[in-house]
Amino acid sequence: MPSSLSNLRALCAAIALLFAFAHPAAAQLSFKPTAEAVQEDKLLNALKEGDKITGRISIPDSMASSLIQPAGRDWRDFQRSKLPIIGGVAILGMLVLLAVFLMMRGRIRVDHGFSGTKILRFASFERFTHWLTASCFIVLALSGLNISFGRVLILPLFGAGAFATMSGYAKIAHDYLAFPFMLGLVIMFLIWIKDNIPGKIDWQWIKQGGGILSNGKHPPARRFNAGQKGIFWIVIIGGALMSVSGWFLLFPYLPANVTALQFWTVIHAVIAMLFIAAMLAHIYIGSVGMEGAFDAMGTGEVDLNWAKEHHSLWVAEEQAKGRAPSGSDTRAVPAE
Ligand code: HEM
Repeated sequence: MPSSLSNLRALCAAIALLFAFAHPAAAQLSFKPTAEAVQEDKLLNALKEGDKITGRISIPDSMASSLIQPAGRDWRDFQRSKLPIIGGVAILGMLVLLAVFLMMRGRIRVDHGFSGTKILRFASFERFTHWLTASCFIVLALSGLNISFGRVLILPLFGAGAFATMSGYAKIAHDYLAFPFMLGLVIMFLIWIKDNIPGKIDWQWIKQGGGILSNGKHPPARRFNAGQKGIFWIVIIGGALMSVSGWFLLFPYLPANVTALQFWTVIHAVIAMLFIAAMLAHIYIGSVGMEGAFDAMGTGEVDLNWAKEHHSLWVAEEQAKGRAPSGSDTRAVPAE
């Protein structure tokens, strides 16, 4: 009667054979990945040979069940090496560009001087919407940059303790201000879409570079010129991409798996860098870069001469509707 030991051996051999057919990948590896323990060196060698090693654990939560995820290395490398370059080039590049522009071109002045006559450009609800969205954006941008670069740029300045406290509050602000920001975006879209449809006039404006480099010659423009329409669509499309990708980061169980979550973090980070760079240009032209511009979002009223130079067709429309004083000012520029 064959001994129980030989029976056992036969049984193991049968199971191993079965396994070899059931798991061809395992068959290809030089060791049994499901063995109780695999010597580390075998794992490392397999890694060096480029074997695709994934580790899994059998808990129901698919998001937590991936133990080793090779794509994670690419994601980490992107965060550590490529994102700083994209952020640096976009944001620092824009700051340098604006500084050079200010030095070369100087502040854009009102060519005919202020007329002292005011015209309402943005009503209070429009200004409220603008500053709701803008202030949330600024906090989101700074707290977001802190998540990406704070450890390298801010921590050495303030020390671990202060940095941890500050980053904790910044993260809370980032998570919660996302909602009023998204609300502001929706309202901005609804109240300004009608004035931001591109048209032939905008192409003329672009061809003349908005008159920004040619002193005194301002191409005609309606309420928003082509540059501002560009800002509007950057805000709406960039804002939508930040909101969708941010939503997946706020509720990380929504994406199907870790790789999808990493995809959304990359989208969120790259769009954020480009969005911030574009808003720096907007903030520049809406504050120091152009005389008389800030009033539009400050008091809501701008000088008639400013409006005639930058939005001549809009002024004519407002005058036709009796909502703007006629150009009694002798220094008024003739309509283009
Ligand atoms: C301190 C920061 C900011 C300043 C000083 C500023 C200033 C201004 C000014 C003066 C205008 C009116 C321009 C005009 O007369 O047509 C304006 C319009 C606008 N702003 Fe801002 N802004 C700032 C931040 C932001 C941010 C962060 C966003 C979006 C996230 C934004 C979105 C817009 C949009 C969509 C418009 C209308 C289109 C345009 O005129 O470009 N602004 N802003």
